[in-house]
Amino acid sequence: MAAELIRITGLSYRYPGSKKWALQDINLTVAPGELVALMGENGAGKTTLCQCLNGIIPHSRGGRLKGRVMVAGLDTATTLVARLALKVGMVLEDPETQLFTTLVKNEVAFGPENLGRPAGEIRRTITWALEVVGLQGYEERPPAALSGGQKQRLAIAAALAMQPQVLVLDEPTSQLDPVGSSEVLAVIRDLKERYGLTIVIATHDSETAAAFADRVCVLKEGRVLACDSPRVVFRDRELLRQAWVRPPQVAALADYIQARGVDLAGFPINLPEGRRMVTELL
Ligand SMILES: Nc1ncnc2c1ncn2[C@@H]1O[C@H](COP(=O)(O)OP(=O)(O)O)[C@@H](O)[C@H]1O
Ligand SMILES: [Mg+2]
Repeated sequence: MAAELIRITGLSYRYPGSKKWALQDINLTVAPGELVALMGENGAGKTTLCQCLNGIIPHSRGGRLKGRVMVAGLDTATTLVARLALKVGMVLEDPETQLFTTLVKNEVAFGPENLGRPAGEIRRTITWALEVVGLQGYEERPPAALSGGQKQRLAIAAALAMQPQVLVLDEPTSQLDPVGSSEVLAVIRDLKERYGLTIVIATHDSETAAAFADRVCVLKEGRVLACDSPRVVFRDRELLRQAWVRPPQVAALADYIQARGVDLAGFPINLPEGRRMVTELL
């Protein structure tokens, strides 16, 4: 059994009817417990890459796929989407479009019920999944009555109910207000740190990537320009410029200070590191 949970080799993909390759020669592996952030401007290929991980591409979309995508030992090209759904949980950008039952508890129960799990196990799953996302006590509420952040957390709970090995989140906070956004990010951090879940998250938010990604993969026009630690990526001004990725504010400040000839011991990319930098400079 391979050590990595995701292994993408030589992946290129073209949507049906399109002349352009939406993804070009992607090679990427993700180890168990890793959190990988996909970044890049609109149209860079983040969503397309996410959909390759749960088999929606090519099974539902068609088009032309070259190369190979292995997730949890399964080849996505030859595995049914329903089977892949047991391994890969997916959370989408829009909290409104992914909830479709009338009660919070039904939303979480939907997947396990379809698998024919026993009622007692489903009840335990509901309790556990809602607790993980901080929605305990909301079982009997209609999803429509929840805030955007709560809806996204419910979508995460519904994905967790299938006990996936990989969670893929496609810009999960881009439609949320700052409060909803930080609620969802706190859950994602918990899933990584407390539960050791393997996570792939497409995001425009450099602060998020700098705060808890193990690696940041920068995409441009369907190619991976770089895939490295946030510190390496966010100090590479030329790379960020080329890919239209904004550096975290703390990294931009560090860059500014360094450019003025101050020798910084480390290169801070997030707030705790930024505080340390300031303390050392004062
Ligand atoms: N359904 C589709 N049909 C044809 N082309 C598409 C479709 N969805 C996305 N694309 C194209 O694929 C490329 C990558 O898009 P996408 O994966 O949505 O990027 P991102 O999520 O980074 O904004 C873009 O050129 C986009 O126009
Ligand atoms: Mg997208």
